[in-house]
Amino acid sequence: MLIDAHCHLDDERLIGDEEQVLQKAKEYGVELMVTIGTDEKTSAAAAKIAYRHPGRVFHTIGAHPSDVDRFGESELAEIERLARETHPKAIGEIGLDYYHASDRQKQTAVFERMIRLARGLSLPIVIHDRDAHEDTYRILSDKAMGMKIMMHCYSAGPAFVDRFTELGCLFSIAGPVTFKNGQEHRDAVAKIPMNRLVVETDSPYLTPHPYRGQRNEPAYVKLTAEKIAEVKGVNLEELAQVTTQNARNFFKI
Ligand code: NI
Repeated sequence: MLIDAHCHLDDERLIGDEEQVLQKAKEYGVELMVTIGTDEKTSAAAAKIAYRHPGRVFHTIGAHPSDVDRFGESELAEIERLARETHPKAIGEIGLDYYHASDRQKQTAVFERMIRLARGLSLPIVIHDRDAHEDTYRILSDKAMGMKIMMHCYSAGPAFVDRFTELGCLFSIAGPVTFKNGQEHRDAVAKIPMNRLVVETDSPYLTPHPYRGQRNEPAYVKLTAEKIAEVKGVNLEELAQVTTQNARNFFKI
């Protein structure tokens, strides 16, 4: 059995097709999934999807760094209310994104505010780090010591594995590890300890090989898991068992 630790089931490419998406996931052995909030709207939608599928779909409440330019006090207060009232399994995705042009100071302020929210609620955090590895590491080591941290779609390569491991992070690996040009991701996976590995799709984005270019969905986490098993030199069953247990412990599911 596999867990897709990070998907966006509220996305319009998936939501209209919800029952079929869940059915196909089951056929691929993906029994559990965590649907991720990115702002006040997608977080509310994620909570509703989780309520429709108790014990099967779980949700988080987040404030995505590339959306910060439109976050005012009322949006952030609404995200905090959803975090207190909908029983999420984590706060995220939150973090830094220097690929998109949104204001970096505001990204930092929102990131730190969301870490405080998670700490206050004793929840783990799911981190988005795109082209911002040094600053993400610095803020986490400054503000999130002792917390449970998952690096979503880990992309900082083998060079950062030791530092994020020392912080206690889990590494969530997505479709790019299967890409022809994904060698850096495979080198990172080779270095990550088994007890820190988790698998995700980030669907509908980042579709694994050989479906790259099509819509991604939780079923395809199996393709990513197969590639990781190959890199680690274990069979798929062992990889599934370990990553499922790691994700269960992290989210308490
Ligand atoms: Ni995501």
